[in-house]
Amino acid sequence: MKVLVIGGGGREHALAWKLAQGARVQTVYVAPGNGGTVADPALKNVPLTEPGALADFAAAEKVALTVVGPEAPLAAGIVDVFRARGLRVFGPTQGAAQLESSKAFAKEFMQRHGIPTALYATFTDAAAAHAHVDKHGAPIVVKADGLAAGKGVVVAMTLAQAHEAIDHMLATPGARLVIEDFMDGEEASFIVVCDGRTVLSLATSQDHKRLGDGDTGPNTGGMGAYSPAPVVTPNVHAKVMHEIIQPTIAGMAKDGLPYSGFLYAGLMIDAQGQPRTVEFNCRLGDPEAQVILMRLKSDLFEVLMHAADGTLDGVELQWDRRVALGVVMAAQGYPAAPRSGDAITGLPANTPELQVFHAGTEVVDGTLQSRGGRVLCVTALGDSVRVAQQRALQAVRGIRLDGAQWRSDIGHRALKP
Ligand code: GLY
Repeated sequence: MKVLVIGGGGREHALAWKLAQGARVQTVYVAPGNGGTVADPALKNVPLTEPGALADFAAAEKVALTVVGPEAPLAAGIVDVFRARGLRVFGPTQGAAQLESSKAFAKEFMQRHGIPTALYATFTDAAAAHAHVDKHGAPIVVKADGLAAGKGVVVAMTLAQAHEAIDHMLATPGARLVIEDFMDGEEASFIVVCDGRTVLSLATSQDHKRLGDGDTGPNTGGMGAYSPAPVVTPNVHAKVMHEIIQPTIAGMAKDGLPYSGFLYAGLMIDAQGQPRTVEFNCRLGDPEAQVILMRLKSDLFEVLMHAADGTLDGVELQWDRRVALGVVMAAQGYPAAPRSGDAITGLPANTPELQVFHAGTEVVDGTLQSRGGRVLCVTALGDSVRVAQQRALQAVRGIRLDGAQWRSDIGHRALKP
């Protein structure tokens, strides 16, 4: 059978890599893919991004299942386009994807359905937003309303930072922002597969959003992740399912927007083990996908076929008990002004314990080059966080990419004495 993965990042490389292992899978197309997917003999890049052209391709090639990786095509309604053509596709509709594409929609939804989250207010008027933060003080969180590739959130530790974020986010005419109370605790990524009714939780994970070691520097799309996340104890897991995930799926169905796809709840877990929702994403996380899929033993193609067909009930997922840990190598200048066009050499051979997932890469005249942003995610399995971290870092140190930035402390919360 043929599968089409839409997207070109590290998450999509990992999805395509895992789907290609499916017992019934013959071909995995990746549109548009990257320099890693083009080099993998099990995958085929397709230079398409426009939803109508992708649907034409899926119909002409008799693709059995299309899996949409990133948020932008989901928010633009690609699932609706495929469904209208009778093509099997896994992902939420444009209406359901508002859980990620509009912070205001998500906050209002959570409030109405009693899903634990921070108190918030929505603003389009800068003067009102400035007055709000003056009244509430810092720390406080300022979020742009639309999609921002994980970079539209400012956790302002001072009033000056909050005022600057408001001016920046409301500079565009018609912009809207959400200001919410600061939540203290430890973050975790809780991602499920859903067919509209039945929910299967994936292995837990934890991202590292800041650029530098010790969680310093600017926010990024994510500089590394590991799975499982020890902060999600069995008790916390049960609370998240009962208080956040199940009410969300039930609430979306009740509101006439049944949710089918990956649903990612970004959590803040306080010292008492009480989880609250920081945000929803309507897709797998990146780089969370890379570590989660390294640990998945089940046939992902069969799972997502069931999810797309509404028959997930009775499906169980099998996991590798080891830790997976991924270290992102980002281009020089990322996130503010990432550089492109640097040669990448010294990539290690992929093995069952070590996979290099590509993101911003391209093969030009037979040589691998960076295309800015996050370039690679070097992902390793190990019997402990320390072993997986050392295995990934050893491979990172052997890769030559001029000006590359990476963190050497991915997994540090799980390594605390
Ligand atoms: N790693 C964070 C995200 O995918 O949104």
